[in-house]
Amino acid sequence: MSPASGPLETAVKGVPPFAFTPNPSPRTPAERAAELADPAFGVVYSDHMARITWDEGQGWHDHRVVPFANLELSPAASVLHYAGEIFEGLKVYRHADGSLFTFRPYANAARFARSARRMALPELPEADFVASLQALTQADAEWVPSAPETSLYLRPFMLATEPFIGVRPSHRVEYIVIASPVGSYFKGGVAPVSIWVEKETHRAGVGGTGAAKTGGNYAAAMLGQENAYAHGCEQVLFLDSVTSTTIEELGGMNVFVVYKDGSVATPPTSGTILEGVTRSSIIQLLRDRGLKVSETPIKLAELVAGAKDGSVAEVFACGTAAVVTPVKRLAGEGFDVPVADGGAGELTMSVRQELTDIQYGRLPDPHEWTYRLV
Ligand code: COI
Repeated sequence: MSPASGPLETAVKGVPPFAFTPNPSPRTPAERAAELADPAFGVVYSDHMARITWDEGQGWHDHRVVPFANLELSPAASVLHYAGEIFEGLKVYRHADGSLFTFRPYANAARFARSARRMALPELPEADFVASLQALTQADAEWVPSAPETSLYLRPFMLATEPFIGVRPSHRVEYIVIASPVGSYFKGGVAPVSIWVEKETHRAGVGGTGAAKTGGNYAAAMLGQENAYAHGCEQVLFLDSVTSTTIEELGGMNVFVVYKDGSVATPPTSGTILEGVTRSSIIQLLRDRGLKVSETPIKLAELVAGAKDGSVAEVFACGTAAVVTPVKRLAGEGFDVPVADGGAGELTMSVRQELTDIQYGRLPDPHEWTYRLV
């Protein structure tokens, strides 16, 4: 049940309480239980959403949690024409005692502010970002599933709502958080996936928006994703747009390579690649194990040759949604090679286990990454 009424106070200092309008027709407990039984990724949404409005001159105002509903938007809204939009992704994990935690929310808050700066949108203070996650989780705590490896995926986003089709930063912006109970990002669970290496299109270019978490980057990746499906692959891997010789990132995930000698590499985040929170957490966890992890350009030709001769032992994708997903096959123009003998690599699965054990409270949290919401 949602709290009956009254503002939602959060533990975040300096942020006003969120005015709360309970959903007048929330899903019944039986309906909710059915939705939580085996959640697919991003299909079902909880009963509420958090919102904060920004106006030029007034700044951020009207912190509120309201029923989940369609948005009313002018057809002239800036976002619909010039794509003034950014988003984030985090999860709420139910621990064994029923408490609800998220993971490194201030890292997402900081990245959200960096994305806003790049897209000439107003920066939401980190405290307001984290408080909005807490307020929505308080309202929809019962939407956090409890089956193994399930969670409530939070999707904070910001859009330029001013009804003006001149080209300049919007004077009105809406920040919203929606929540979706989820299981695995990929239909097959943690089963290894095949990757299509895309040469026809690029996701990002130097000086562009590749490091920002903005919808346009994902729009630019859709054709590559379609090409991946056409070649029997679940995901697309993009190359640098200048030489098309080094690997960058997948359609919505970072990528790691594990070598036979135990060292690990991932492309550096030098402006065209998203600075993944999962990516940086994995780098830390692997370094904690004493492994050598380099953030270094990785040549496609060397990756393919290494997969063929066995010097590349494992490849994995990672992100909040995908967690850590093993790659079993790399395909592209002129090559199609299995990785990790077409299975899931050992290091891949052990770092996945360690990360999720921390997130679900099954292991100590030495870096203080988990953050209690409820
Ligand atoms: C995430 O991993 O949370 C993402 O935002 C990636 C994707 C689902 C777009």
